[in-house]
Amino acid sequence: MNSQYTHLNGIAIAYSDQGTGLPIVFLHAFPLNRTMWVQQEGALSSHFRVITVDLRGHGESDAPLWRYTLNQSADDVHSLLDHLGIRQALFVGLSMGGYILFAFYRKYAARVKGLILADTRAQADTEEGKQGRFQMAQTAYTKGPSAIADLMIPKLLSPATIQARPEIVQHVRTMIERNQISGIAGDLMAMAERPDSIPLLNQITCPTRIIVGELDQATPPSDAKLMAEKIPGASLAIIPAAAHLSNLEHPETFNQIVSAFASELGTGDRTDTMPRPAPPCNL
Ligand code: MLT
Repeated sequence: MNSQYTHLNGIAIAYSDQGTGLPIVFLHAFPLNRTMWVQQEGALSSHFRVITVDLRGHGESDAPLWRYTLNQSADDVHSLLDHLGIRQALFVGLSMGGYILFAFYRKYAARVKGLILADTRAQADTEEGKQGRFQMAQTAYTKGPSAIADLMIPKLLSPATIQARPEIVQHVRTMIERNQISGIAGDLMAMAERPDSIPLLNQITCPTRIIVGELDQATPPSDAKLMAEKIPGASLAIIPAAAHLSNLEHPETFNQIVSAFASELGTGDRTDTMPRPAPPCNL
């Protein structure tokens, strides 16, 4: 996965941009980074323009020590689109990436050609859920990211993957351990205060596909069904034997769903891109 960097909204953001055609922007889960999309990038960038981004607080992007909000992450994605000269894209958000897509859609619906909401939910956190976020932030602060990996891995992957696929478990652990505490705690606060997106669902007018792992316990199939019922025209795909990180556990099925949906939306054409801004002169 190649790395490119830009400076936007006061911080450095790392991203990768490969292939040509319809732009597909992938937004990762908490507390991971854009390398969770490595299998999607490999398979899809021969037909589409695949953009993955380390959201603020994650991976190689800056993790400033200050307040985080999902609106701010949506603004970062919007600024990245401008930087890349992309007018409209298909967006794929998994879990926290999906929460950010709801924020993005509220502010920038005209930039959305289609949505794929994977292993995510529209509801806000319950009071108990918010308390859980607070406890996790304290754990991150006192014990560090590896304690967060211990807590999160059983929620992200199926028991079968944990038992028999050590390379996936190690990849997830590495992503979590590379985060800074400021980013982990910041995102927990941002997710805790996100609004209920149920009232937004029937206002979503772009083509939408919902994906969920059959064994996802963090955002179960019942949450996915609710979104599919309320978003006009949305369709639901359930990936058998996958848990929360369905794209990592069953990449072929996940890629097939994304590729078929993207092909239905049409190949990238000139209306998807804008003239790129001129690079700064070297004086
Ligand atoms: C994620 O995968 O992004 C998280 O599980 C989302 C959450 O904690 O609500």
